[in-house]
Amino acid sequence: MEQMHRLKLAVQKSGRLTDNSLDLLGRCGLKYSRAKDQLVCFGENMPLDVLLVRDDDIPDLVQEDVCDLGIVGLNVVEEKRLAFLARGVDPLFEQVMTLDYGRCRLSIAVPEGHSYEGTGSLEGMRIATTYPNIVAAWLAARGLRAEVVTLSGAVEIAPRLGRADVICDLVSTGSTLAANHLTEVETVMESQAVLIRTPVPVAAEKLDWMNKLLKRMDGVQQVKESKYIMLHAPRSALPLIVDLLPGSEHPTIVPLEGTDEKVAVHAVCREYVFWETLESLKAAGASAILVLPVEKMLA
Ligand code: PRP
Ligand code: ZN
Repeated sequence: MEQMHRLKLAVQKSGRLTDNSLDLLGRCGLKYSRAKDQLVCFGENMPLDVLLVRDDDIPDLVQEDVCDLGIVGLNVVEEKRLAFLARGVDPLFEQVMTLDYGRCRLSIAVPEGHSYEGTGSLEGMRIATTYPNIVAAWLAARGLRAEVVTLSGAVEIAPRLGRADVICDLVSTGSTLAANHLTEVETVMESQAVLIRTPVPVAAEKLDWMNKLLKRMDGVQQVKESKYIMLHAPRSALPLIVDLLPGSEHPTIVPLEGTDEKVAVHAVCREYVFWETLESLKAAGASAILVLPVEKMLA
């Protein structure tokens, strides 16, 4: 297939989103081989190539139509959006869907022992961050005057080096903050992985595959927590039992051979099924309860 007819999708080269993103593409049916330089994954069974790049470059690559799609953290998308606006450039790349991984937050953290009594304490402080536009907007929205110190990395050591008083950085487990004796005091934004697409209309030859890929991604997302539940229930207990099934709209009710009092209930549950739910179902009169994984789903 001609190069120009292949979809290009940008993914973080190495970082918090890399494994989950490649895993998501695998679940969408993509088989790929990784080139020697490891910067491009060549799709073997789809006209789709995955470019492995720095996450901060992904919005630009998509905005400039170098890539048709990109998977990146909402934190990076938002920072770039504000940076584009500040430069008078319209952020035209489009956010297509949120992906359910890469959850973290952008937070302000202060050195341990530093007194903090609410946002007023930030007045006049130097805040080190790699997200200057988000931080500036957050401060402005609260009428706070503080100095934003833009760094390109290693933000967590800035207070120790005397370059800043406090920091604003991504936190997921919190171990980086703990290791650097910093205490989280404000959440500036919540983030997770999102899929963005080029503002340029996609060529007809690529559009079919693009739409197919988006549908599959959506299916993978839906299926994640979904389970297929089968159980037997006394007819009298049906309303209660159907009510207990988590996130299922229309269960199938099947008659059981040899009895009128009991029926079989089959349902797709779109939320996580806890042991507690099964115990409640049993207490409500259900028996022979089976929970099966759902492999694929196409809406
Ligand atoms: C972020 C942040 C911290 C770390 C926090 O970096 O800069 O170093 O993650 O995670 P923790 O709370 O689990 O310790 P990231 O890996 O996103 O790299 P990048 O910002 O350089 O892209
Ligand atoms: Zn980065």
